[in-house]
Amino acid sequence: MSTDISTDAPFSLILFGASGHLAQIKIYPALYVLALKKRLPKEYNIIGFSRSAMDDASFRVLVEESIRTHMPAVTESTLKEFLTHVYYHQGEYDDVADYRKLADRLKTMESETFVRLAYFSVPPTLFPKISHNLCEGNIHTAKTPFRCIVEKPVGHDLDSFLETKKQLLGCFQEDEIYLLDHYLGKEAVRNVYYLRYANPVLERLFKNTLIHHIEITAKESAGLSGRAGYFEAAGTFRDMFQSHLLMMSSLLTMRLATESDISEGRKDALKQFYLPPAKNMNDLVLQAQYTHGKINDQSVDGYGEEDGVAKDSRTNTFACMKLMTRISRFEGIPFYLRSGKRLDRKETRISIIFQEPRKVGEGSSPNRLDIILQGEAGMRMHMQTKMGGTEPAFRPLVMEDPLVCVGDCLPEHSLLILEAIHGKKNWFLTFDEVQLAWRLVDPIQAHLDASDTPLHLYSAGSDGPEAADQWIEKDGIEWI
Ligand code: BG6
Repeated sequence: MSTDISTDAPFSLILFGASGHLAQIKIYPALYVLALKKRLPKEYNIIGFSRSAMDDASFRVLVEESIRTHMPAVTESTLKEFLTHVYYHQGEYDDVADYRKLADRLKTMESETFVRLAYFSVPPTLFPKISHNLCEGNIHTAKTPFRCIVEKPVGHDLDSFLETKKQLLGCFQEDEIYLLDHYLGKEAVRNVYYLRYANPVLERLFKNTLIHHIEITAKESAGLSGRAGYFEAAGTFRDMFQSHLLMMSSLLTMRLATESDISEGRKDALKQFYLPPAKNMNDLVLQAQYTHGKINDQSVDGYGEEDGVAKDSRTNTFACMKLMTRISRFEGIPFYLRSGKRLDRKETRISIIFQEPRKVGEGSSPNRLDIILQGEAGMRMHMQTKMGGTEPAFRPLVMEDPLVCVGDCLPEHSLLILEAIHGKKNWFLTFDEVQLAWRLVDPIQAHLDASDTPLHLYSAGSDGPEAADQWIEKDGIEWI
């Protein structure tokens, strides 16, 4: 897909949480890539706003180091030029005077055609103060086009989401708010939809008369990456299912829409997901936590031993759940969603397992389509072919091709920031989508939080808890 966006829109991007983890590992490298690919205009300002004591020069050192650490290589001249657009503004998030000072400074840096963006790379508890002060402090004004980019998670549950929504809408117009789920910026994830769009044959196959079940797996070998503070309160279920996994499920099932209708289509698909009837919630969802183990021959601490984690923490680092959709052609097909940290590898995969063939002979097994989005990205159709001999016996035949982005490829944060600068919102979440997701997730989270809900264990570096294998085997199937 071409990003097809011109480079002539001057902008100022104010980044809240400028010395934070996300900014350093994702946002500065993403902006640098835009500079490298010549996707930035001549005039732009990137202004870090945070409480840390820094000036422009020391902030540029931090940004430079983040880029050098997180990019495989840098082009020195581009980096040097890019850093001349980077500034720092020290301020308290709750002191409107600091925002007024920034507004005065912006006036000296911008001409009339500038767009302003505020990027909230801070915990959701800070959103209300920052939004309020952006408006009170004259950074958000009626005459300058404005976009406010808010990273997921938006809220911690449905109630806190509704509160955040109210606060954001108290300051900004809805069309100024860009709710960012970085999975929706991944070309591979967008491709889940576009593969269907471009290949009518897939649409013929994707129906309940042919499909047995669908597995969506997002495995990570990484652990907390220094984010214990956030993760302890979130856990994998909230962190990965509420947005990333549900979004992938929606892209797989949504109606084929026009470009401008994509977010509406995603929302309509999301609305149709439900928890199938079950005697016990434990039949629909399972949680686990990693213990000490080995990844790539390196010894890895158990979750309870990680810095910033309570020894007796009950936070899940692995979860799986079963869902169904009311969309008629998928009705009755179980969707098994699974995600975990500190597993054997990084892999994000959608597997569509077709119904058992009639037993035509020895070795026959169901057809399966794997769409591997991260890890060894590729598409694999598992078929079977007859072996030589007078008896019908079969061996697997895998038709496969790597799925690599070719053409105008940008990393997810680069693409989404570029789209936000240009006011393209299709691949940002809407409030309705986030609300629907929390509505689905909240009761399950309440069940997981209950003290008598089992928290299973798995060794770091393993394929996940054995309990998850037994859980899915009760439905007569196995994880891929
Ligand atoms: C983030 C989660 O949204 O996604 C992290 O907060 C997780 O916990 C990350 O590690 C995974 O993203 P990616 O791009 O590495 O698949």
